Amino acid sequence: MHQDQDFAQFIVRIKQKTAIDLSQYKEAQMKRRLTTLRMKHGFQSFDEYWMAIEKNRSLMNEFLDRMTINVSEFWRNPSRFEVLQKRFLPELLNTTNRLKVWSAACSTGEEPYTLAMILSELGVLQRTTLVATDLDAGVLQKAAEGSYLERSLRDVPPACIQKYFKQSEGAYLISDQLKQHIQFKQQNLLHDAFDDSFDLIVCRNVMIYFTEEAKHLLYHKFAKALKPGGLLFVGSTEQIFSPSQYGFETADTFFYRRVSN
Ligand SMILES: C[S@@+](CC[C@H](N)C(=O)[O-])C[C@H]1O[C@@H](n2cnc3c(N)ncnc32)[C@H](O)[C@@H]1O
Repeated sequence: MHQDQDFAQFIVRIKQKTAIDLSQYKEAQMKRRLTTLRMKHGFQSFDEYWMAIEKNRSLMNEFLDRMTINVSEFWRNPSRFEVLQKRFLPELLNTTNRLKVWSAACSTGEEPYTLAMILSELGVLQRTTLVATDLDAGVLQKAAEGSYLERSLRDVPPACIQKYFKQSEGAYLISDQLKQHIQFKQQNLLHDAFDDSFDLIVCRNVMIYFTEEAKHLLYHKFAKALKPGGLLFVGSTEQIFSPSQYGFETADTFFYRRVSN
């Protein structure tokens, strides 16, 4: 079978089995990553690799783990979180008493816990609904456990380490007080329906992996999921070109505001 056809067929089979549509991810990157993985196991083609994956749950889990890149950090790009804390959250709180916030593609939880700490520091965590979602059930489990190594706390303000973590056997555990405020759920951004009426959607460092068509649809879905005046906060390589076509205006670097109807 021709190489392209081999990969195309693999994409169809994965979609049928998992509802994950690999064709909505940038092809060159995805193909390179999965080719390395299949060759590590000595499979000559994606056809052979598929047969093995179908029979072996741990190969399937490894595949899912590799296709989703899970790297995350607390306060990733700290200056942007400073803008969120000092400017945008107070602005949103001028217009509403209760906040609804979504960390979309939250990976192992560093992002929603960063949001929870900031909201707690502003004294509004109790009045906030904070939802965190990801495609990968494995990372969601780690997020719910909330156990981190010291090196991942590099950008957490020392006062927040004191207040929101407790140390146990070399690990830093997120306090129960924060944990109970976050609802973790599995969700595929490219397939599942979205909730609505959000004041803030944080979706960072995942859209870079998607095709232009997939991003286009996603921006429309995010705009619909936000309240008028609500904000979309994206990653530091993910600026939206012509945000007005989705009903957004640029509020600051990497922040987009849904324009009121
Ligand atoms: C690099 S991490 C980003 C984590 C965090 N947002 C940050 O910026 O640090 C990308 C995450 O996107 C998730 N992901 C990939 N495709 C997805 C999809 N279609 N729907 C939801 N999450 C997805 C992966 O499982 C992974 O946890």
